[in-house]
Amino acid sequence: MAKTNERKKTTVQTFFNKKSKGEKIAVLTAYDYFMAKLLDQTGIDAILVGDSASNVIHGYDSTLPITMDIMIAHTAAVARGTRKALLIADMPFLSFQPSTETAILNAGRFLKEGRAEVVKVEGGVEMAATIKRVVECGIPVMGHIGLTPQSIHRFGGPKVQGKGEKSRSYLLESALALEEAGCFSIVLELIHADAVHEITAALKMAATIGIGAGPHCDGQVLVINDILGLREDEFKPKFLRQYADLPPIITTAVKKYIEDVRRGDYPSEKESYFTK
Ligand code: KIV
Repeated sequence: MAKTNERKKTTVQTFFNKKSKGEKIAVLTAYDYFMAKLLDQTGIDAILVGDSASNVIHGYDSTLPITMDIMIAHTAAVARGTRKALLIADMPFLSFQPSTETAILNAGRFLKEGRAEVVKVEGGVEMAATIKRVVECGIPVMGHIGLTPQSIHRFGGPKVQGKGEKSRSYLLESALALEEAGCFSIVLELIHADAVHEITAALKMAATIGIGAGPHCDGQVLVINDILGLREDEFKPKFLRQYADLPPIITTAVKKYIEDVRRGDYPSEKESYFTK
């Protein structure tokens, strides 16, 4: 049988393998079919359908308003464009906090209706028992600790976590509890790099995926809109590296279209249908 060079499908096992070999994992968010297809073709390891859709797609000022139904619609669209990357769906606010049963049913909906392969759940040691049950139901879970945006009002703003001893030991205890509960991977958001170093070294299996968490993670995740410049101007955190600036390109194209329509240059004869 002829060998192909086709890239292998990323699975949860790939995350374990990469962590054990010290190979870094690259993750980006996506919210629609077309972007998912583009990302998938680049070789990205995993695509996260983040509840950041609430901000960057729906224009809210937090992740709190987005619902299960909207997240499932985004996830199903992304799934239709994803072949090789691991597809992770983010469980929105109040889809898992009320009870373990709620968490299992909503995590299951992401797999059944959204065709996700993994769900992401915010929260530390206090969420470990719920996560354990979700994992026992056969649903892989990515944890998420540090500055968890669904608790933004409790944090009182985007404050970097893991500075004092109390915060640092809570984060380490949480990471270990989430690994014990069966998380194959944990997002570490906005945490001091030395605390992250300690957490990554303490975890035997679970890969740490950082955002604003410095260089000592097993991988990194960023919001696709942020790296392409498709975000409100005021969102410029220190950790963000912007790889492209799409708004001027879009503006120039649209202005040219308006101009062409207004002066009757578009559509041309070549772009029109005639009976003869
Ligand atoms: O919703 C999201 O995009 C996220 C990532 C920033 C980790 O949770």
